[in-house]
Amino acid sequence: MSENLSAFAYLIASICFIMALRGLSSPDTARAGNVYGVVGMVIAVVTTLAAPGVLSFSMIILGVLIGGTIGTVAALKIQMTALPQLVAAFHSLVGLAAVFVAAAAFFQPSAYGLGSYGQIPATSLIEMSIGTAIGAVTFTGSIIAFGKLQGIMSGAPIVFSGQHPLNALLGILLVVLVVWMCMDQGPGLFWMIVLLSLAIGILIIIPIGGADMPVVVSMLNSYSGWAACGIGFTLGNTALIITGALVGSSGAILSYIMCKGMNRSFFNVILGGFGGESAGPDAAAMQDRNVRTGSADDAAFIMKNAGSVIIVPGYGMAVAQAQHALREMADLLKAEGISVRYAIHPVAGRMPGHMNVLLAEANVPYDEVKELEEINRDFAGADVAFVIGANDVTNPAAKTDPQSAIYGMPILDVEKASTVLFVKRSLGSGYAGVENELFFRDNTMMLFGDAKAMCENVVKALE
Ligand code: TAP
Repeated sequence: MSENLSAFAYLIASICFIMALRGLSSPDTARAGNVYGVVGMVIAVVTTLAAPGVLSFSMIILGVLIGGTIGTVAALKIQMTALPQLVAAFHSLVGLAAVFVAAAAFFQPSAYGLGSYGQIPATSLIEMSIGTAIGAVTFTGSIIAFGKLQGIMSGAPIVFSGQHPLNALLGILLVVLVVWMCMDQGPGLFWMIVLLSLAIGILIIIPIGGADMPVVVSMLNSYSGWAACGIGFTLGNTALIITGALVGSSGAILSYIMCKGMNRSFFNVILGGFGGESAGPDAAAMQDRNVRTGSADDAAFIMKNAGSVIIVPGYGMAVAQAQHALREMADLLKAEGISVRYAIHPVAGRMPGHMNVLLAEANVPYDEVKELEEINRDFAGADVAFVIGANDVTNPAAKTDPQSAIYGMPILDVEKASTVLFVKRSLGSGYAGVENELFFRDNTMMLFGDAKAMCENVVKALE
């Protein structure tokens, strides 16, 4: 394929990727967005394979078979609730690939048109060393994020005194090594950059607690994009530069949106140590307090007599896969002339858009699904807030308790509804480990049980 033709094909692929991001920004257009992404990727891969620099296909086919098999099996088997850790695991591979490509280019520069060993142009060395550093940080950082999300290691922040000065010192050392390697081109310096970056990846993620992991995963997503972008410069591949920059910037924007959703600054998250042990009232003391409990029949009776119901889904709905039964329940209520809407918190569940995806899967009409800012004021006028498997996103400690780990996070004001129905299995806390005193309010009724079973029973009672 001529150079002009491949540049044109890469341009088309890049436009497809931009259309994909545009499409994915709304549930209505997400499927079309996915199709654009697949088409763009096929164009980019075929164009790359048709490049004159590709001498043999055997290793490429082997790589595609191994990688494709792992990706297909993982995607088919993975539970929705485990997607964040899958994403973290995949990012680690992007980071590792960036390190391998940079190492290959550093030790065999002639194969990449970068001159001979020890005589690599300074600009290529800068791209290569930055790509290597970001790739290695992404690799170990993503592995730690995976371990925390998968429960292989504790989600609690690992902190020690002098941690931030140490990280800052290592960061400065890394910059010094990059400058030194660009001047000296010594192989020892290259490996020192790799080792130091691997250590930095571990050190910057261990102090971050479980509740901040979504921001971390999206931040690592951004890093992996920038690593790919750096490697795109090394390889002189425009498609890789553009896609890397798209991934890098969209990951950074997503991190920003999530920080805004939690009302925290990006630096507060990165330097935080948030999301460890429970910072709320004593759990044992809470178990002794009175709670009003009810059955599916009670819930059906209360909702049947309501004028408006706002449903607040959370992580528990995803675990129980209760979305279909929930929609059936909502359909029956609507048939009775009751207004039903869904309130979605920006960090409900375990990944951005988690609740939207599940509700879309259950064919819940998009116009009934409202973001926090759109609906929060309406709780005061609602008869029932039906909270299903959500906890942290409703916890008023975020507004009232400056000592709480979630203080400052915007929450859904469910307590303002005349009656709050909480569907969950126990009085246990949510992801951030903070007890929720709403369970003990006079206008709250706890519906203990699995979210799906409870919805099915409410449906039976309504029928
Ligand atoms: P959580 O606060 O984690 O609460 C979920 C509740 O669901 C738990 O209290 C649990 O109580 C209940 N539950 C679990 N399995 C259930 C089942 N089968 N049936 C019924 N209930 C069940 O969830 P949330 O309110 O959605 O808040 C999300 C939290 O996760 C936030 O702290 C957020 O920062 C964090 N987070 C968010 C993301 C993103 S991007 N969305 C990613 C990672 C972490 P029981 O055990 O008593 O049933």
